[in-house]
Amino acid sequence: MEKWLGVALLGFMTICCQKNEPIWPCSDETGLYTLSDFPIGVAVEPNNLSFNFLYKKITQEQYNSLTPENIFKPAYLQPEPGLFYWEEADSLVAFAIRHQKRIHGHTLVWHQQLPIWMDTYSGDAAAFDSLMKWHIQTVMRHFKGKVLAWDVVNEAFEDDGSLRNSIWRQKIGDSYLEKAFVYAHEAVPEAELFYNDYSLESNATKRKAVLDFLNAMRQKGLTINGIGLQMHLNLYVDRLQIATALQDFAAQGYKIHLSEVDIALNPLGQYAQPPASLLQEQANLLGAVVLYYKQLPKKLQYGITFWGVGDAHSWIRFKDGRDDYPLLYDDNYQTKPAYCQLKELL
Ligand code: XIL
Repeated sequence: MEKWLGVALLGFMTICCQKNEPIWPCSDETGLYTLSDFPIGVAVEPNNLSFNFLYKKITQEQYNSLTPENIFKPAYLQPEPGLFYWEEADSLVAFAIRHQKRIHGHTLVWHQQLPIWMDTYSGDAAAFDSLMKWHIQTVMRHFKGKVLAWDVVNEAFEDDGSLRNSIWRQKIGDSYLEKAFVYAHEAVPEAELFYNDYSLESNATKRKAVLDFLNAMRQKGLTINGIGLQMHLNLYVDRLQIATALQDFAAQGYKIHLSEVDIALNPLGQYAQPPASLLQEQANLLGAVVLYYKQLPKKLQYGITFWGVGDAHSWIRFKDGRDDYPLLYDDNYQTKPAYCQLKELL
């Protein structure tokens, strides 16, 4: 049934999206979010918002949801034991409030971007448990009333569906995952709690493990509101799998956040400039994703967030040390075909 729905959607897309008029270039005078009935988000850094005029302008005009790309992570918020550094995070939150943007809290518990002291902490299980609890609750209470939803745990599962042997699991045991959600709910009961991970749209084994975990939590009466599918895509992704993934989570009633969307088109690093044909393929793929997303029940559409304002800021360039062009705006803050396609379909 799901498979046929996916096939029908693909057929629909083939007909609907093969328009004759070119979609690109297009104006970005009207913001994306003004055309959408679900939030459209972007990952941002407060420094860029302060010092980069075009970056700030695009953020303000195009998006109504902001995810702190780094500044809410433990390495930034708690650089020394018990020493919380709020300044930049607060400035981002103030920006969001001033411009009526939602902030999505990312992220409380992860195996990366931990301060060195946390990574090397030598306390026993109970001490590590209270450290986790203290971090989660201090951060959530600090932003109470301002940040209403959180990625409580990020990337806890491996590709084979087993639990990643992160420092949290090593020190506290498997139960850390559930405990993190319990502590988060205890800190701010009205907050919406998300689990966030990658490859859920392409790896059915991992997806099942995550769904089983979410369902087990819910059966115990614990709060878990939604799932973040990071969606770091490339042009070779299986579209039917994406449709199936969205349906799998929606069928269980979880809110769905496409939380870190980007579409790499230069995995081998051979293009010094993005070829026009690949930019068009990127636009088509994004179009397909958006149409699938729009089929979801409205109440489950938490939003779609792009992982960066423009290609110049993409984490892929820093992570892989190669040029790629995965976002809606190019290096000069000009819109790309993917932007125009998105605009057509919202
Ligand atoms: C990345 C940031 O974009 C980079 O700037 C940083 O150096 C490393 O982290 N999955 C996540 C995000 O959940 O937090 C990561 O963000 C990208 C992968």
